[in-house]
Amino acid sequence: MRILVTGGAGYIGSHTVLELLNTGYEVVVLDNLSNSSPESLKRVEKLTGKKVTFYEADILDRDKLNEIFSKEKFDACIHFAGLKAVGESVEKPWEYYENNIAGTLTLVDVMRKHNLKNIIFSSSATVYGDPAFVPITEECPKGQCTNPYGWTKSMLEQVLSDIQKADKEWNVILLRYFNPIGAHKSGTMGEDPNGIPNNLMPYITQVAIGKRDHLTIFGNDYDTHDGTGVRDYIHVVDLAIGHVKALNKIKENCGLKIYNLGTGHGYSVLDIVKNFEEANGVKIPYEIGPRRSGDIATCYASADKAKEELGWTAQYGIKDMCADAWNWQKNNPNGYGK
Ligand code: NAD
Ligand code: UFG
Repeated sequence: MRILVTGGAGYIGSHTVLELLNTGYEVVVLDNLSNSSPESLKRVEKLTGKKVTFYEADILDRDKLNEIFSKEKFDACIHFAGLKAVGESVEKPWEYYENNIAGTLTLVDVMRKHNLKNIIFSSSATVYGDPAFVPITEECPKGQCTNPYGWTKSMLEQVLSDIQKADKEWNVILLRYFNPIGAHKSGTMGEDPNGIPNNLMPYITQVAIGKRDHLTIFGNDYDTHDGTGVRDYIHVVDLAIGHVKALNKIKENCGLKIYNLGTGHGYSVLDIVKNFEEANGVKIPYEIGPRRSGDIATCYASADKAKEELGWTAQYGIKDMCADAWNWQKNNPNGYGK
């Protein structure tokens, strides 16, 4: 089977491409490299000994998409391409709505015109807003998003669900990721954020390597076991394997399906700092700062549905996630050097 992976040069995409190749799929990556480097795919090729066909293209570019779809035959699309920086989306809402929503509408239109109606979409736990209950099951009502990025995910879930309802030839899987961290065991692939990292783990690894002098913890007065925010951190390789399992479901003509991809465990910011220090023997100096606007106290998944229906469970624990994130950072202090 031949899989189109949009955004395949990015963090989660590149790890997924590797798992797809190792499972025997052929992979074509389409990415505009706005937040990634082609080096990630070279590393994938080196690790797998297999070839990745790559198109530098934008999902908003209908002509280019038509050209690619006329040349290549695909059995399914895994759609990662999108902008994802929460804070930036507040500053540049139009750019986020255009890139993520107009981009996905263009992609989906080209897909249907070329009779490709199988899609796996990167959604997010952010669609639950401040969750009505934890652990969060897929039945938990969607909530109010606190930023335009979150709304693009929530709206695109609706768009894809409606398209599938109207045309049963579509198979649509919405994967709601919790907090992906970590890196491939080889230490040659990982997360390579631009500028100052927004997310916790890349910030911690940059403190560990000496690029930043301390971590600021955003609030210690939440209603959690130690006052700091609790999240469901999931190893990026586990997340990647979740996509391979979701493809098996697509092959069964599954219609519309929604799955949480999380571990079912919640860790606080202080738990992560402690685990990182223990796993790697590196000290992480930190200060307590004010809460970050839009943050919630607690978010973790029920991972039961993915286990029952996809046969997927996260394998890696928090120490592996911390060790692998550090192994990547210390071997690649400047990421892919983009
Ligand atoms: P990433 O930025 O590393 O990867 C996204 C890729 O999409 C990048 O390679 C970028 O160059 C590409 N891209 C962006 N706009 C494009 C466009 N218009 N045309 C073609 N390519 C484009 O991010 P990631 O962490 O790998 O996330 C992948 C997906 O998962 C995104 O849709 C993201 O919103 C979603 N997601 C991420 C997280 C997370 O915490 N990392 C959590 C939930 C959901
Ligand atoms: N945090 C700090 N200091 C930092 C960075 C983060 O204390 O420098 C805290 C946050 O306040 C939060 C926790 O660490 O309590 C995790 O924060 P992240 O920014 O790493 O992750 P979020 O849970 O805020 O959001 C991430 C992605 C979203 C996605 C969501 C759920 O950024 O896009 O996970 O998947 F929607």
